[in-house]
Amino acid sequence: MWGGRYKLGPAEIMEKINASIGFDRRLYAQDITGSIAHCDMLVAQGILTAKDGSAIKRGLAQVREEIESGRFKFSTKLEDIHMNVEARLADLIGPAAGRLHTARSRNDQVALDVRLWVRDAIDRLEPMLADLQAALIERAEEYAATIMPGFTHLQTAQPITFGHHLLAYVEMFGRDRGRLTDCRARLNESPLGAAALAGSPHPIDPRKTAKALGFDRPMANSLDAVSDRDYVVEFIAAASLTAVHLSRLAEEIVIWCSAPFRFIALSDAFTTGSSIMPQKRNPDAAELTRAKTGRILGSFVAICTILKGLPLTYQKDMQEDKEPLFDAADSLELGVAAMAGMIRDLKANPQRMRAVASADYSVATDLADWLVRKVGLPFRQAHHVTGTLVGIAADKGVDLDKLSLTEMQAVEPSIDRSVYSVLTVEASVAARKSLGGTSPANVARATKEARSRFIGKAPRSAKGRGR
Ligand code: ARG
Repeated sequence: MWGGRYKLGPAEIMEKINASIGFDRRLYAQDITGSIAHCDMLVAQGILTAKDGSAIKRGLAQVREEIESGRFKFSTKLEDIHMNVEARLADLIGPAAGRLHTARSRNDQVALDVRLWVRDAIDRLEPMLADLQAALIERAEEYAATIMPGFTHLQTAQPITFGHHLLAYVEMFGRDRGRLTDCRARLNESPLGAAALAGSPHPIDPRKTAKALGFDRPMANSLDAVSDRDYVVEFIAAASLTAVHLSRLAEEIVIWCSAPFRFIALSDAFTTGSSIMPQKRNPDAAELTRAKTGRILGSFVAICTILKGLPLTYQKDMQEDKEPLFDAADSLELGVAAMAGMIRDLKANPQRMRAVASADYSVATDLADWLVRKVGLPFRQAHHVTGTLVGIAADKGVDLDKLSLTEMQAVEPSIDRSVYSVLTVEASVAARKSLGGTSPANVARATKEARSRFIGKAPRSAKGRGR
């Protein structure tokens, strides 16, 4: 491609370290789409004849077909996807192929391809996250009144409803979707026309290519256009946070499935057995979803580290943006899909959840709150009285509601019989009707609201898709 000045071929190791075709072939669709838009613009601007333009487009369509049918021969000698496609185009249509690269460089070309790829990845992931939210909402409806222990420090804190717990993740994934959407909106500018770095002397129209490719506008600065990869960083950052959320849920699934908890069970479809212990049902999909987070965070560190020392503009280092990007996107897609599957698959064990929720004085706060509301004690004093009663019950090895009225009155004389009505887990959750609280009535309402906030939206229009 740059043979004019070169007499010798590259050293074998040079070819090896330089080649990106092993991974950037994944950009083929974006590369061809971008080339077609560029070709149309060149023809419209009178830079290319209509005849050459149609030969190029016909050739590109055939290249795409060859790649998609698996017949295309990728060559490491041709370094990357851009040169592989162009070389094949030249085989197919002859010298006219050499005109496609007018007013373009691989620098704006690759920046374009990666932008389109990230945009496509977001357009795949966003509905997958919506589907995961839908799965969580479905199960939250089913388990709106199912009582489980709420934990802080992984110590039983207060009774909550399982539906409420699941809806917490719906909120997190909603924000994750928002971050992806923000990233998409910011990346949606076209770098085409920047050429190598400084722009082009040809009468090009970058607005035309931007519009044809579904971008909002061309990028304002050619140096920025070829040298930043902030959209890759932003995407992986959003992916990292999504993965962190997925990982926390995955960790909970692992805990809930464990024998000491037995809060939920996953079916055969989402567990594996052990080759030595016949009784085992391992939640591998949850464990792997948790582990993928490590890879995605690794990609984030990799991309930031690759970029941080680079002077403007394009540096070959940037070729290394793709593997972390692809790996982060692949890992996240797997994790989101596996999680949606597990959420739909899991079966709760309400008896077990309720039993654990009832133990360990989980309604102690309800007693303190009752002392505030009924007796008028300041909360700090109510807390102290309740603590004393919990101590007495613990010494006797009984629950709070098993203390007699006389025993309670010995600590706080104004306690009366009505106190027992707040000492059940059902009363505890039902009472938490404050905005965003765990009561079954709230959860039933919140599932409806979540549906209209997150699921009811019209699907994104096809506009702006990369292919
Ligand atoms: N394969 C290269 C990359 O991924 C394409 C750009 C090459 N540009 C250059 N000036 N060598 O970054």
